[in-house]
Amino acid sequence: MTEPDGTPLNITGLLDAGGTLRLSGAGDAEWRRITEASLEEYRRHHQAQDYPPSTLHVMAAFEGFIAKWAGIWDARTMIDLGCGIGTALPPYVRNIAGSPAYVGLDPLDENPQRDYPFIRGRLEDLAVRPLDKKFDLALFATSLDHFEDARNALALAAKITGGGHAVIWCGLHDSPLIARNDLSVRIADLCRNNRSFPTRTLAFLGLAILTWPRVAWALARRERALAAGRPLDDLHFHYFTEDRLRALLASAGTIHEFVHCPGTNSVFAAVTLSAETE
Ligand SMILES: C[S@@+](CC[C@H](N)C(=O)[O-])C[C@H]1O[C@@H](n2cnc3c(N)ncnc32)[C@H](O)[C@@H]1O
Repeated sequence: MTEPDGTPLNITGLLDAGGTLRLSGAGDAEWRRITEASLEEYRRHHQAQDYPPSTLHVMAAFEGFIAKWAGIWDARTMIDLGCGIGTALPPYVRNIAGSPAYVGLDPLDENPQRDYPFIRGRLEDLAVRPLDKKFDLALFATSLDHFEDARNALALAAKITGGGHAVIWCGLHDSPLIARNDLSVRIADLCRNNRSFPTRTLAFLGLAILTWPRVAWALARRERALAAGRPLDDLHFHYFTEDRLRALLASAGTIHEFVHCPGTNSVFAAVTLSAETE
C-alpha cells in the first residue's frame, strides 16, 4: 500500500495488521549502485537463509543484546533500519520479534510481501513523513556502513523513535579484529580435524607458514587503504574502525554500552541518539 506524502503514515495499523507500506523516493545513482552490488549475497543469505555458522553465532549474541536493551528501555516496538530482503524474520530477532513488536524497513524492492510488517523504502524517505506513532527502538544490524551519511542516519533514527534509543551491530576494520575474525574459524576447524599432539602441531605450523604471511600482507594493504581514505570494496560507504565508530556515536548522542563480540570483528552498541545534526 502506498500512502500520499502529507498523510501521517499508519504505523499503528502496520503493527496491528501486518502488511507492507511503500514509500516514495529512490536515492541517487551512486547509492543504488553500491546498494544493489550486494544483491546476490543478500539473496543467498537473507532469502535462502544460507548464513555462515559464524554469522549465525553473532546474530544470536546480537539478539540477546537487543533483548537486554529493549528491557532496560521498556521498548514495545522496534524498527530494523536496513532489515535486508528475506521474507522470514531476520535470525537476530526471531525469538524476540513479538515483544517488542517488530517492523522491518529496507529500500530494496525484492520480496515486497514479508512474514512481518514491512516498510519498503529508505530511512531518509521515512523520516520526512509524519508518523501516527513513533518507534521505541531502532536497530542498525550491519547497516550503518551502508548509509551514504551515517551521521545523518543516526539523527534520522532519533527522529522516528520516541526516546532516541538505538542498538547497533557493526563490523570493524581494525587489523587485530580482522585477523582474529579470519583466523579463529580456521583454528577451530584445525583443532577439530587434528586431534593428536603431533598432527595438531603440524597443522599449526602449516597454518603459520602458509596462511599467516598472506594475512599479514592483506592487513598491511587494508591499513594503507584505510589511512588513505580509499574504499576497501564496492559494497559500503563507510569502513569503521573502533575509534571512528566511537567518535561517530559520541557525536550523535550518549553511548551506554559498547561491547566486542568475542572472536569476531563485530561490536554492539546501545546509544541514545539526538535528532540534532552538528
Ligand atoms: C548488510 S545488509 C543488512 C541486512 C540485515 N540487517 C542483516 O544483518 O542481515 C544492509 C542493508 O541496509 C540497507 N540499506 C542501505 N541503504 C539504506 C537506507 N538509506 N535506508 C535503509 N536501509 C538501507 C540495504 O538495502 C541492505 O539490505
